[in-house]
Amino acid sequence: MSVGIFDSGLGGLTVLDAVTKRLPDLPVVYFGDNAHAPYGVRDADDIYDLTTAAVQRLFDEGCDLVILACNTASAAALRRMQESWVPRDKRVLGVFVPLIEALTERQWGDNSPPRQVAVQNVALFATPATVSSRAFQRELAFRAIGVDVEAQACGGVVDAIEEGDMILAEALVRSHVDALKRKMPKPEAAVLGCTHYPLMEEIFQDALGPDVEVFSQPRLVADSLADYLERHPDKRGAGDNSKFLTTGDPKRVSGGATRFLRREITFEKA
Ligand code: DGL
Repeated sequence: MSVGIFDSGLGGLTVLDAVTKRLPDLPVVYFGDNAHAPYGVRDADDIYDLTTAAVQRLFDEGCDLVILACNTASAAALRRMQESWVPRDKRVLGVFVPLIEALTERQWGDNSPPRQVAVQNVALFATPATVSSRAFQRELAFRAIGVDVEAQACGGVVDAIEEGDMILAEALVRSHVDALKRKMPKPEAAVLGCTHYPLMEEIFQDALGPDVEVFSQPRLVADSLADYLERHPDKRGAGDNSKFLTTGDPKRVSGGATRFLRREITFEKA
């Protein structure tokens, strides 16, 4: 009964943490492709090849359902995977849809035509690959009209977080928020469109100011996973062990993960 959670590195742990709190009895196999992070500066073919290799490893662990807790992989590879790669008896889900449903105040499965929603000016912070894919705007357009999205590619932030250099990460976040505000002075909402960014959520909120509502994925994805498993109990998978796999150096990655989640996390070599 295990579900797979994938990210290029440590960012997906923000989703794992929320899932563990929401579904404490659910065994989860986490896969961090730390040896190849960051994905955000890679091209779509490269992201597709790395993501399918990682997801295959999670299928081999007994996971029938894998969450891509990585916006970059969700943006650049998920659709191609769903169209031509994912076996019939498996599911791979991304992290955009729960976020957009929350932003547009829509319920799951609401397939009515796109309509005017409460927010009109949205700031999107994401990796360069996610921004250039325009996947967020595409998914949003299925559900809402009249929303102006200004995207800021936050170069360097993921590298700094993976390196554990939080001072650099904070300085970069503040300069990316400044750059965004020069393009859109008064966003009503800001989307943290990278699973590494919730680790910097307070900095984003502080730099944006108290009038901006910050949407962050972990809890939204955890709620949506709980709802999905309720409707598809068969997708809990055959595995019954929680474990943490990495393509990177397990000792180093375990240290970073333990620091971020403030509890002991032990990775093993994938
Ligand atoms: N945490 C990932 C995301 O949500 C990946 C970042 C990266 O590897 O560049 O986009």
